[in-house]
Amino acid sequence: MATFQSLPGFRDFYPDDLARRKHIFDLWRRTAHTFGFAEYDAPVLEPLELYKAKSGDEIETQLFSFTDKGGREVALRPEMTPSVCRLVGAKANALKRPIKWFSIAEFYRYERMQKGRGRCFSQFNADIFGEPGPEAEIELIAMLTQCLASFGLTEEDFYVRLSDRNLWFYYLEALGLDDARVRGMLGAIDRFEKYGDDAFKGYVEQFGPLDDVLKTKVVEFLRIKSLDALEQTLGAMGHEKITARLADWKKLLGGLEAMGLSRFIAVDLGVVRGLAYYTGFVFEAFDRKGELRALAGGGRYDDLVEKLGGPALPAVGFAIGDMTFALLLEQRGLMPNFVQAPDIYCVIGGENGRRAAFGDIHALRAMGRRVDYPMKDVAFGKQFKLAADSGAKLALIYGDDEVAKGVVKIRDLTDRTEREVPSAQTIAMVRDYFS
Ligand code: HAM
Repeated sequence: MATFQSLPGFRDFYPDDLARRKHIFDLWRRTAHTFGFAEYDAPVLEPLELYKAKSGDEIETQLFSFTDKGGREVALRPEMTPSVCRLVGAKANALKRPIKWFSIAEFYRYERMQKGRGRCFSQFNADIFGEPGPEAEIELIAMLTQCLASFGLTEEDFYVRLSDRNLWFYYLEALGLDDARVRGMLGAIDRFEKYGDDAFKGYVEQFGPLDDVLKTKVVEFLRIKSLDALEQTLGAMGHEKITARLADWKKLLGGLEAMGLSRFIAVDLGVVRGLAYYTGFVFEAFDRKGELRALAGGGRYDDLVEKLGGPALPAVGFAIGDMTFALLLEQRGLMPNFVQAPDIYCVIGGENGRRAAFGDIHALRAMGRRVDYPMKDVAFGKQFKLAADSGAKLALIYGDDEVAKGVVKIRDLTDRTEREVPSAQTIAMVRDYFS
């Protein structure tokens, strides 16, 4: 009979895999707490409508969607942003501002599988609602860098590329593009790094031949890599909105500099983000070597809460994916080796020994110690090897001789020293050893 396997792109987590995932989640959660973010969750299954025309064409084609038994069109969540907007929107007036929330959850996208991309993956999402100025971006980008740096990654391992859809809008409008053309062009820019000139194909199909001057101006702009270059290109336009926007840029970069984070940040107008709802600053984190797909992505989405039926509420956030991130940690040798070792292994000779050992085993576990023992009778000599192989620090020995003398032999497996203690003192001795 054929054996069952998990679906393509879905992952099983054996205990060692889960230990690695837990390690990542624990540190992300701890960082979020240090930044004062509160944790939330939402349903895995949502109305399909939540994603239609809000997340963008690409995500829509990747949905795991179906009709449920009640005839509802539903989808497994491909991302958290629409759900968190629904949650916040429903209680916006009751929530203390700024609303700083995070979650760690699983998502589903029917994607073409490749290194660091699956059909089921986890994300750490962090979002701030109710703060229209770049102060929110400062807080989030600082947290994003700390979420990665807390594992020992440095500016030599990753960086955050920072861009701005507002400036792209102002720039493309000034070049004569209407709203539909601007959006089409942003789609092309999002694909440019990967496909080069082919990225413009969709735009040409929709809007007709691309003027050479326009294309050159777009390509020049997406190659901008510094605030100075941005100011030079845009400053001359004398546009009021652009001048105000450049002031936001200075505030954002200044704030990050004051936090000592400039070394992680790269101005890069080549980033526009594929998701349709972004409205302002956008950013993505990548490994420095450029070998992996994006580690994280985010940006401002000031219209989405209202579009989903809530009040007008400015918002900005990001998500880190677990798959590319785990690959980067492995590559840099920063993923600890998780050994599932007990603290104590009990070596037991016969029924009397078992009876004596069981009381101690249960008492030690109730104290929070991790204790293991052979569940079935195993030759006494062989149990010493089991104890050594388990990785335990202590072996408690309950042989016939010990039981007859009313003692327990405690062997320190780290330095192989041994001593006998009266049975009644075993728990206290072990507690002292680990304190
Ligand atoms: P995203 O860029 O689609 O943004 O995803 C963020 C991160 O999730 C990516 O950089 C990547 O690490 C990971 N990711 C995405 N798709 C996959 C996949 N198929 N397999 C493995 N990892 C994947 C969002 O999802 C936005 N909702 C983020 C956000 C939060 N924006 C504002 N708030």
